[in-house]
Parts: sequence; C-alpha cells; structure tokens
Amino acid sequence: MQKNFAPVEEIGEQTVVTCCEGNIPINFPQGVFVRNGPNPLFGGLKSTESIFGRSSQTWVEGEGMLHAIYFEKDSGGNWLLSYKNRYVESDTFKLEKPQNKPSFLPAVEGDSWAIMAAYLLNTLRYGAVNKYMSNTNVFEHAGKTYVVAENYVPQEVDIATLEARGNWNFDGDWDQPFTSHPKRAPVSGELVTMGINASRPYYVVGVISADGKKLNHKADLEFDRSVLSHEIGVTHRYNVIIDHPLVFDMKRLVSGGPLLKYDKEGYARIGVMPRYGDASSVRWFYIDSSCTFHIFNCFEDGDEVVVRGCRALTSVFPGPDWGMNKFDWFSRGFNFREPVDANANEHGGYLFTCVYEWRLNMETREVQESSLTGTEISVDFPFINADFTGLRNMYGYAQVINSKSSSECGNAMPVSTL
Ligand SMILES: [Fe+2]
Repeated sequence: MQKNFAPVEEIGEQTVVTCCEGNIPINFPQGVFVRNGPNPLFGGLKSTESIFGRSSQTWVEGEGMLHAIYFEKDSGGNWLLSYKNRYVESDTFKLEKPQNKPSFLPAVEGDSWAIMAAYLLNTLRYGAVNKYMSNTNVFEHAGKTYVVAENYVPQEVDIATLEARGNWNFDGDWDQPFTSHPKRAPVSGELVTMGINASRPYYVVGVISADGKKLNHKADLEFDRSVLSHEIGVTHRYNVIIDHPLVFDMKRLVSGGPLLKYDKEGYARIGVMPRYGDASSVRWFYIDSSCTFHIFNCFEDGDEVVVRGCRALTSVFPGPDWGMNKFDWFSRGFNFREPVDANANEHGGYLFTCVYEWRLNMETREVQESSLTGTEISVDFPFINADFTGLRNMYGYAQVINSKSSSECGNAMPVSTL
C-alpha cells in the first residue's frame, strides 16, 4: 500500500507513450503486453475494529487492475506505443463502485471472530464472503483473454478496451473457483484447470475444450482437507496435482485459530492423474513436507513424470500467526545467510524458495527429489515459453529475490531475472 505498491487511478482514455528509452526491433511483433495486480478501490478498507476484534487488509484483497501497453505500427511502419489501465469490472466491483468508499470488510487476516463477522456482513450486504478480486493473472485461450484470481471464476476481457465481458463458467457447468494458473495441454490444446474451496468439494479438476466453448470433464478429487494449492501442472497425458499442508480449516477458525495456516508437520504429496481421470485414478507420491505455489513445468520422461517448481519450507502466505511480529517473521524468513535445513523455521531462511525437481516413477512408484538451484539464490514467479508447457523444456525464467533487501524491509524484493 506504500511507494510502488500504492494504488493508482484509472487514467481514462488510451494514452500515447511519448518517452521511450532505447529502440524496439523492427521485426518485433505487434501486440499487447498486459499485466494484472491488486489495486484497492478507494484505497481499500485498511482495518476493522469491533466487539469481535480486529481484522486488517492483506495485499491480496485489492481489486484487480489491468495495465496494457499496445505495440502497433502506423502506416509508415513506425512504432506507435500506447498505454491504458482499467479496473476489472467484476460483479462485486459493480456493487462497490457506486458506494464511493471501500465497502467489503477485510476477511483474510485478523481475530477469528472478526473474520467470521466479516464473512457474515459481506454476505448479507453483497452476497459474497469477499470481493471477487480478479487480480492475479491474465491468460489467453482460443483467442480470448481472461483475468482471474482463485476465489472466483475468470472474467473475459476485451483486450482493446480492457472492458470485462462477464463470467466464464460455461452457463454454470463450472460452479467452482478457478486456479490463477490453468494450463494448456500439449497436442489436444485443452485447458486444464482446478478450483479449491474451504468447504467440500475441496479440490475439483476441470478440462475445457480447445475451442473454449465447453467443459469436457470435471472431477472432485475427494480431498479430506482444504488446501491452498495455487497451480496445476500438465504433461502430454496427465494432470499434476500439488497437495501441500497449507490448509484452510473452518473448525480451527471457530475455535479461535487462523482460517489458513501452514502446518509444517503436515503431509505433502504430488498427484498424477490421467487427463480425464477421477479421485480413484490419481497416483499419489508422498514427498518431503514443503510448500510449492508455482510450477515451472512438468513433462514425461520414460516411466517418470518430472515436476519442477519453486519450493520453500513454509508458506509466505498468509504470514505469521495473528499477533506475532510480522516484520520480524518476514525478515528472518528471507535471511538466507542462516542455514536452510529441516529446522529452518527456527533458524530463519524458511521463505527461501529454490527451483526443485521431483521425479515420479509411475512404474516403481518411487520419488527422487533434488534442488536444481541450491541455497545461493531464492527464486519465484517462474515462466517458460508456453509452447513447451507439458513438454520437456530447456529454459525457464524467474525472479531472483534479493535476500539482503528483503530481509531488511520484511518484504520480497526482486533483484533481477534469472
Ligand atoms: Fe501465481
């Protein structure tokens, strides 16, 4: 909410970019670079205080804002760049905007009773426990552009105007939230997604047709706990499921604990399911307990399914238990100078994220685990050339986290691109 994290206003009409450093190569393709991120409407409601206790806004709760740079050529072949930004006009945005003030109560971080009161009041006022944030990702499927956050379904947007065109839910056939990172399957071109819930069904997989018009498959994986799993992987034949011990627990919330907590004693496993499989056909591989939000890529290699992701020993989200010193917890977590080992929660460095590989043998059912980047650098927000999604790839790109700066300011600070 401060400095370069502070919310910005919509600028209105598309604006020509007149100040440009360097040159754009002549054969660079025309197109649009668009990104999404939380940008709290009216600055957001920073905290609540009542007889139920306190709650405070987290950075994930801001409404999504799209920022687009359009790369076009004029009739003379000269580059013409323009910029536009616009809020994602979801159903809850349309309810909130006319109020002219932040309206949804923060409902992620705070005293248990304050969170439950926020759920109730938000539901009574707006028909949803929290706003549909739509602030996490932008993706393309079958020539259309969608924006999404994992507490609701994607919104289709017009890339020229950034105007939202409504919910993408196949006339209600998909009645679950939707991961921020769906994956296009190699060869078939289908889009594989999943949705997580705090109540049953906890984890549902979906397969969308290559033309984006229908839901080809839907399967409840019958989890016995609700996990915040952020990304799903694909290979040629399989869907890859991350099940780590970052758990939503309504019973814990009612008894005074946090709704979401990383349980470092809890189990972690990776599931491999046939594309149109169900709960009974997932092959589970139990792995060393860890937290993996983002997957670089997955692919098949002989009998093995290879999974590469950014793995840490605890979760950066939702942060320390309510009441603990937040700055100290983040500062120690990002301090990589201290040893990263099984007791890392006590020794600092627990938020260190390395590129990690699991090789899952479908015949022997064995798992081989290894770090590909060691303990010198911490990286996250991975990306590859999307043409290689689900296939063996050679290159990946990610942000390197600056240990010293992050530890000093208690927030993940990028240093460069790896
Ligand atoms: Fe993500």
